[in-house]
Amino acid sequence: MNTWDLTDPFKAARASSGLLAADFAGETIPMILRHGDVRRAARNFEAFSSDAPFRVPIPGEEPFRDVRELPIETDPPEHTAYRALAQPFFERPKQPEVIEAVGELTYTLLDAIIGRGEVEVIREFAVKLQSRALALMLKRPPEDGLLWENWNTNLLYEDASRTALYRYLDRALADAAANPGDDLFGALSKARFDGRKLTADEILGFAILTFAGGRDTVVSVIAFALAHLADQPEDLSRLRADPGLVRSAAEEIVRVCSPLTHIGRTCPAGTEINGRRIPPGHRASLCWASANRDESVFPDADEVRLDRRGNAHVAYGVGPHTCLGAHQARLILRSVLEKVSQKVSRIEFLSGEPKVEQWPDYRRQTGYEALKMTLHPIRNEETAQ
Ligand code: HEM
Repeated sequence: MNTWDLTDPFKAARASSGLLAADFAGETIPMILRHGDVRRAARNFEAFSSDAPFRVPIPGEEPFRDVRELPIETDPPEHTAYRALAQPFFERPKQPEVIEAVGELTYTLLDAIIGRGEVEVIREFAVKLQSRALALMLKRPPEDGLLWENWNTNLLYEDASRTALYRYLDRALADAAANPGDDLFGALSKARFDGRKLTADEILGFAILTFAGGRDTVVSVIAFALAHLADQPEDLSRLRADPGLVRSAAEEIVRVCSPLTHIGRTCPAGTEINGRRIPPGHRASLCWASANRDESVFPDADEVRLDRRGNAHVAYGVGPHTCLGAHQARLILRSVLEKVSQKVSRIEFLSGEPKVEQWPDYRRQTGYEALKMTLHPIRNEETAQ
């Protein structure tokens, strides 16, 4: 793709040792790179534990929050019980009325930008769709989605947006505690864990992860999809001619994009991987982005093939912590691919400000800070054909 830098920075290390000892703010962390190794480690929560408040993200998030994120920063069996409390909301995107409502949102937002000349699609489309669809999934009022649209994509890392998020959650969680409704916050206020109610910090830990985990990831995959369809217009025509391709296309796009490069684990007792010793208490990382380009699993791994079969990608993780928001992300991405191919004849890439993850040992594009495009409408005679 010309519009997105698809360089795989892990290729050489994956082939040689399967590990990259990478420096993150002074801490050297072995990144596990091969598909099979990543899958095994993700399932082996005793050796590769998530029971490490603030240290599952890399680098750690101590400067940005003071509560443990739930359920991600726990191990089974505690994790299983926490996860079950939020699960019903994260399953909502499988319900026909939610699928339909997200489709309508997508149509409305597309109608506002198609044929309008230059449009900055991150703020004017992707962030709006993600925010409004999230309000739907969590059963929050639509006005909340409109409020979240104004927040930055890097919610926790940007001061103004973090302040806005905490201020919003303080109020919304206090309201839910006083008068629990049928939304996620109300459900968490009423929930029982280990025979007791959740503490305010536990509820906040669920809420922060729901906002932080699902925002820039979803925005990135929408941007990737649009950039790909701009770059390879024949794929836009293929989707239009064969809407049955949308499902495999949505998996392939998230595989190649892999917006979450990796995630950390601690090794409480110490362990060894590919001949490298990880001392007790040290961290390793599961590199989803590298596993998703493993040539032994994905032929022509650097290519986007919309009809790729048996796509065993790990962009949503694997094992007990498999992304709770995957149903939501899939619904949004499928909806974008379907509606864009029905309404847009051609996407013109005008300019992009890449979002780059840059460390001393690797660099990769994970999204766009801003992306300017023109979406040309399908004329009536084209739809009639
Ligand atoms: C393309 C979009 C997304 C990608 C690539 C993605 C990726 C991931 C990955 C790789 C994990 C596993 C973490 C681990 O093993 O430690 C994860 C977990 C999680 N994600 Fe997502 N995610 C996406 C969208 C979302 C959305 C939309 C939400 C919520 C609105 C969300 C909420 C969560 C939560 C709550 C967990 C923790 C699950 C657990 O610990 O049991 N994610 N995500």
